[in-house]
Amino acid sequence: MYNKVIVFEGIDGSGKSFHLNAASNYLKKKKIKHIKLREPGGSKNSEKLRKLLLSNKSDFEKKTDLLIYLSARSENFYKIIKPNLKKKVILIDRFVDSTIAYQHYGFGINRNIINSLNRFILGNFKVDFTFLHIVKKKDIRKKIKTKKNRYDKFNKNFYLKAQNGFLKLSNKKKNYLKIYSDETKDRNKQIIQKKFNSLIKIK
Ligand code: TYD
Repeated sequence: MYNKVIVFEGIDGSGKSFHLNAASNYLKKKKIKHIKLREPGGSKNSEKLRKLLLSNKSDFEKKTDLLIYLSARSENFYKIIKPNLKKKVILIDRFVDSTIAYQHYGFGINRNIINSLNRFILGNFKVDFTFLHIVKKKDIRKKIKTKKNRYDKFNKNFYLKAQNGFLKLSNKKKNYLKIYSDETKDRNKQIIQKKFNSLIKIK
């Protein structure tokens, strides 16, 4: 069994969490051992940091924000990802690309600093595959209206910048698959399952 780390990325409301859960159910059905993680969040300590970050009352400076996201990632990496590498399939809701898309392309934080911090925590670790969920420009406002965390206050332009960032990161890379949220959920589920079949050799 070839175990991989597979990430679901995309802006808020893009359907990434729905499809991660659907993929997890698919693996369960196939009796494939796997772990589900989310960022920010995941391990016990990371969930505490998630509460801090996403509370409506929080108003951290953007550099503080970055460091908390990275602190949460560090907890996940050392406590969950590393010990399970090559043992189980690991599914993650957001990872390094979210930090580049939101903190660099969205908030303008220097990219080299973000890259160095990620390298400091993760060393040479790289995820195996990323499903990137894309929302049509005209649908962005509609999708984020349904969200309740503090990111509600960001405008459509912020999300456009973040999504363009995700697209740049995936550009010309073989280990990304774009999932378009204007397709039906069932169709996208099929596309994702097919990719899983080849990624982790499911018969
Ligand atoms: P998300 O899991 O989508 O929260 P929810 O499902 O409750 O809406 O992500 C929370 C927010 O965190 C999201 O707006 C993106 C942001 N985020 C960053 O800005 N940088 C990061 O590195 C990560 C992991 C998330």
